[in-house]
Amino acid sequence: MRFTTASYALAAAFLLSFASATHLIPDTKGTLPLKDNYDYIVVGAGIGGLVVANRLSEDPSDLDDRGEDVSVPGNIGLEDPRRYEVKVKMAEQEFLDGKARTMSQGKVVGGSTIVNGLVWTRGSVADFDAWERLGNPGWGWNGLLPYFEKSERYSAPEGLRAHTLLDPTIEKHGNEGPVQVGYPSYYYNQSDNFLDGIHELGIPINEDINSGNATGAAIIPSSMLDMNQSRADARTAYLDPVIERPNLHLVTGYAVTRVLHNGDDEIFPNSTHVPGASGLDITGVEFAANSTAQKTTISCKKEVILAAGAMISPVLLQVSGIGPAELLDSLGVDVAVDLPGVGSNFQDHATLQPVYEYTAPDIFTAWDIVGSTRDAVRQEYLANRTGPWTAPMVNAAAFATLDWVTDRVEEIMTAANTTANLPLSYDPTLRAGYVAQQTELISLLTRTDTPVYEVMSTSWGQLAVSGMQPFSRGVVSARSASIFNNSPPIVDPRFCSHPVDCQVLLLGLEFNDRLIQTPPMAALLPVPPPGFGATDVRNETALDEAMRPKINSGFHPSGTTSMLPLEYGGVVDPSLRVYGTRNLRVVDASVIPLIPGAHIQAAVYAVAEKVSGGYHQGWELGTPCRKTVVQEAP
Ligand SMILES: Cc1cc2nc3c(=O)[nH]c(=O)nc-3n(C[C@H](O)[C@H](O)[C@H](O)COP(=O)(O)OP(=O)(O)OC[C@H]3O[C@@H](n4cnc5c(N)ncnc54)[C@H](O)[C@@H]3O)c2cc1C
Ligand SMILES: *[C@@H]1O[C@H](CO)[C@@H](O)[C@H](O)[C@H]1NC(C)=O
Ligand SMILES: *[C@@H]1O[C@H](CO)[C@@H](O)[C@H](O)[C@H]1NC(C)=O
Ligand SMILES: *[C@@H]1O[C@H](CO)[C@@H](O)[C@H](O)[C@H]1NC(C)=O
Ligand SMILES: *[C@@H]1O[C@H](CO)[C@@H](O)[C@H](O)[C@H]1NC(C)=O
Ligand SMILES: *[C@@H]1O[C@H](CO)[C@@H](O)[C@H](O)[C@H]1NC(C)=O
Ligand SMILES: *[C@@H]1O[C@H](CO)[C@@H](O)[C@H](O)[C@H]1NC(C)=O
Ligand SMILES: *[C@@H]1O[C@H](CO)[C@@H](O)[C@H](O)[C@H]1NC(C)=O
Ligand SMILES: *[C@@H]1O[C@H](CO)[C@@H](O)[C@H](O)[C@H]1NC(C)=O
Repeated sequence: MRFTTASYALAAAFLLSFASATHLIPDTKGTLPLKDNYDYIVVGAGIGGLVVANRLSEDPSDLDDRGEDVSVPGNIGLEDPRRYEVKVKMAEQEFLDGKARTMSQGKVVGGSTIVNGLVWTRGSVADFDAWERLGNPGWGWNGLLPYFEKSERYSAPEGLRAHTLLDPTIEKHGNEGPVQVGYPSYYYNQSDNFLDGIHELGIPINEDINSGNATGAAIIPSSMLDMNQSRADARTAYLDPVIERPNLHLVTGYAVTRVLHNGDDEIFPNSTHVPGASGLDITGVEFAANSTAQKTTISCKKEVILAAGAMISPVLLQVSGIGPAELLDSLGVDVAVDLPGVGSNFQDHATLQPVYEYTAPDIFTAWDIVGSTRDAVRQEYLANRTGPWTAPMVNAAAFATLDWVTDRVEEIMTAANTTANLPLSYDPTLRAGYVAQQTELISLLTRTDTPVYEVMSTSWGQLAVSGMQPFSRGVVSARSASIFNNSPPIVDPRFCSHPVDCQVLLLGLEFNDRLIQTPPMAALLPVPPPGFGATDVRNETALDEAMRPKINSGFHPSGTTSMLPLEYGGVVDPSLRVYGTRNLRVVDASVIPLIPGAHIQAAVYAVAEKVSGGYHQGWELGTPCRKTVVQEAP
């Protein structure tokens, strides 16, 4: 029974998302004119899902539901666009203040790229080389660079270059990819105060933050359309241009509730995983409009690709019987594949956003865009695509190495080397995987091209501090066998469960205090928030107490179905296939084994492009379902 690759040309992807976007399907009568089966079923229409769906349907409209609110960079962080988000309550953070926080994710076609901050950073050479050393051949910086380039259409205006010392290494940027990356036409003057102040403290300007050396200060590139000065998202980049393809069907308004499989015909081989040779045969997915609506199933001829994001993809595996046996038992789900890593290795960039309000007179900030000023700013944007509405929330940022901000590098490296606070649920494979990651992380702390934290500047004085190399690890687990909102997953990032993560954030706050005292920043008359003033900063215990309640998610959930060897608690192999299955992949932020020291969207696009490249490069993606094999073989 052999298959030719000719069937690739017939690839149809079927996307499911709980978006409220225009429904291509169902029709006006509410019926779903679906085919009986599809070659590929892609679950989730964010970065991972749309990149893969685009690439899978390549071989052979406009959905106008986004108002101006989400496409305008100047609206980032405002409440209104947040209706495109689903908020998931996190577990109480026992290592912070015992209180719960909320995590958000886009719930619309385009996924989180519809609501994200547009910050476009790749991370460093060393970040990705660590992925390769952790057991993922081909996934180092050199293996990913062609896909960073393939996803990107980069442009930097000349005027900006002279003004900001920007000098991009053009040969490392893509200029034909689907995602436009550029710079806003407007800068708040406070970005200059910030960069000048940072420079006075000895942190150099990085001419190109995306060249592989990811440290230093910079005006940050944004995922935005150069001509229109509007948001570039996964949908404008990967879906809108191909929406007419007859072999691509998009379904919105539904959530996938389970992955279907022939649970009893194969036994999971303990440690030797031969891709495609054996394992659980995935047959399709089950989906529904809501928890009370009738469930529908659809079958696949080849693969199911999960791309529901790092909070939901692991939960879909768990409720389908693929995950830690103990958890599945407690949910009353039959164990099809006992895979301890599903939902673990959860990472995020713990972040706090103190505002050192600039009180100097005559400063113009985004907070001034109200009333008649808002009308004028809006007019200018709509007429000319210039002015403050083109500027995203974060204009300038600095990525600091440890030795730029402290002389206690050795002490911190020693403190970093503990596994004391790993979740009790981590089995020996997850613990071994963590120790391997920790060795990589500790060596990253000594490098000059990989940051330990980031400080992000806004026009009104927010100097957000975000830990870039988190040592803490959390867990995502299903609360019940249902994926719906009345039973949301347990999402526990366990911020600062490793003490070094909070130590790094403290260094960031101490640095902020020095920063606001530099002449360029002092000129803005910044007023530190309560608990973060110069006297508070001198008492580290007090500063720590003031800081912990303010720590929140950096909105970069990742790692929950890590690409790692099985003996390191991995969930997917280097072709992103789920261990123990023949034809199930995960393609989203969940597969990141070690979070890069950067905002992660560029990496997620690159990962999805790389694995999609595999569909055409004989990586065996496109494994036919065994059931279909039997049916089709004469
Ligand atoms: C508020 C916010 C700000 C951010 N800012 C930045 C930034 O400035 N820079 C940056 O680099 N990154 C940023 N990010 C992160 C970045 O956008 C994400 O890391 C990235 O979008 C992840 O891609 P993904 O494919 O994993 O998931 P997503 O893009 O989140 O897509 C997941 C998709 O799956 C769908 N889905 C979920 N469950 C189901 C189900 N059961 N059935 C069907 N579909 C389902 C969702 O509706 C969604 O469309 C931000 C994120 C947020 C939330
Ligand atoms: C920004 O700075 C320039 C040069 O100092 C000045 O001309 C301009 O008026 C400032 N803009 C605002 C909005 O304050
Ligand atoms: C990375 O860039 C910073 C400046 O932005 C510089 O200080 C450092 O030496 C560089 N590191 C390497 C390894 O090139
Ligand atoms: C850019 O703006 C123009 C005019 O407003 C609009 O017609 C066009 O569709 C926009 N392009 C994109 C890709 O959003
Ligand atoms: C697989 O694991 C089971 C339980 O851990 C063990 O009893 C069995 O010997 C293992 N089989 C192989 C082939 O290693
Ligand atoms: C659930 O979905 C069904 C079918 O689409 C719909 O009729 C019903 O109103 C929905 N219920 C809720 C609570 O949204
Ligand atoms: C648009 O730009 C033109 C040319 O610079 C200018 O005359 C006009 O006032 C601008 N329109 C708005 C609304 O700012
Ligand atoms: C961490 O500590 C262990 C001993 O507990 C030691 O073997 C290892 O080399 C240390 N790792 C690093 C990176 O310092
Ligand atoms: C530092 O702050 C802690 C906690 O608020 C307090 O108990 C302690 O007395 C302070 N130390 C000094 C030297 O002020």
